[in-house]
Amino acid sequence: MLFPTAAERRRIEDWLSVNLSDALARLQAGPVSPTIDVASFRAELQTHDFQRPRPLEEILRWVIERLGAGIVQMANPRYFGLFNPGATFPAQCADRIASLFNPQLASSASSPVPVELEAHVIRAVARRAGLPTGATGHFATGGSEANYTALLCALTAAHEGFAGDGARAFAGPLKFYTSRDCHIAWLKIAHQAGIGRNALRLVPTDGRGRLDPQALLRMIAEDRAAGAIPIMIVATAGTTGGGMIDPLLACAQIAQAEGIWYHVDAAWGGAAIASERLRGLLAGIERAQSLTIDAHKWLATTMGCAMFVTTDGPLLSRVFHASTSFMPSSNSSVDPYLNTVQWSRRFLGLRLFIALEAAGWDGLGVHVERSVAVIERIKERLVAAGWTVANDSGLAVLDVLPPAALGEVRALVRRVVASGRAWVAPTHFEGRDVVRICATHGETTSADVDELVAALNGQ
Ligand SMILES: Cc1ncc(COP(=O)(O)O)c(C=O)c1O
Repeated sequence: MLFPTAAERRRIEDWLSVNLSDALARLQAGPVSPTIDVASFRAELQTHDFQRPRPLEEILRWVIERLGAGIVQMANPRYFGLFNPGATFPAQCADRIASLFNPQLASSASSPVPVELEAHVIRAVARRAGLPTGATGHFATGGSEANYTALLCALTAAHEGFAGDGARAFAGPLKFYTSRDCHIAWLKIAHQAGIGRNALRLVPTDGRGRLDPQALLRMIAEDRAAGAIPIMIVATAGTTGGGMIDPLLACAQIAQAEGIWYHVDAAWGGAAIASERLRGLLAGIERAQSLTIDAHKWLATTMGCAMFVTTDGPLLSRVFHASTSFMPSSNSSVDPYLNTVQWSRRFLGLRLFIALEAAGWDGLGVHVERSVAVIERIKERLVAAGWTVANDSGLAVLDVLPPAALGEVRALVRRVVASGRAWVAPTHFEGRDVVRICATHGETTSADVDELVAALNGQ
């Protein structure tokens, strides 16, 4: 059964296609929240002891059913949640193709076409973001991996001894700076990189959820005076909680004046480069020495498809160089295993390549603008019902406070999520608990907005 005949394989693939389409239709009309009882599922799992082979279709049907009830449904257009998208169909097609060929993207000799194709997409994204010619990069499993790569670049650029001696090469404790509204995976990244969590300096925001450049300057000066060594400034373009964009130009100027690495974490908001109307909001992104954009967020590929882009390709090769006799190629300017955190690699970039081919930048721009329009509609409806807007993002995240009669934010969010009618998150924005509503699904309709607004208003 592991390797069925061609005819049997064809039959099951056809069966799977039909059943997946049916599952999608069901989950888009059904509850957004999981309905499964986890304790019963755990008990049920005990009967799966892998002692007796089972017919493949039976297993596939069981998995589809359990997933249909056992996850928060990102493919449901009433998921107004974290930055997880309803994946586009071209990206899903790419996964199918990549699974069949299963290319190994570590080496250009093993996978010349995929390696060239990914590099082509990365160059197109770098150009669209306005980075200088020659900018390069790669696909990564997530924004966290791409941001980790940025920190390793900053450290390697800051001291030639870092490669050999690690943090001990520096004459004092290391510091890097990002706003207190950053994605907090930076703490794990500092830990992983061996410079310690205390290296992360969280810069106050300006009352509107954006990094305060004056506070940044003060903190750098204080740290230098205390003998610490600043190595990187990270500006966030599209904060996780409020969708806010840090002052990208001011941060670039400070990084340049201080002689330290400048990274822009545009994991979600970077998708705005697709829209002619919205890309101006990201002015200053072109000054980044490195950039994170997750295609698996607002560009709506399937999960695990981030991009790391940098103006300094040779530095990447210095960070990740290695040599061994068993690899089929050893070309530091092209081989992914010599330029990235990973060694064995999946063909991630095909998802964005096919989506870009199928829709063009304009098509992805329409998708991004549509999300912003959905959020505008929700905002109007909630304000009319007495809600207060807390953030002023030009992107597709709305943070709102309910009128007093609807009670406290976290209890309200719990009620909405438990109802299964829509999915929103509680978050903290500029000192207040707010309801966070993000439009990421490309098919959300006005009926879906009506349902969300009614659920939020307890109707
Ligand atoms: C601004 C920002 N950076 C980084 C990340 C981490 O990305 P990932 O979850 O793909 O590792 C996120 C995730 O939401 C994010 O919002």
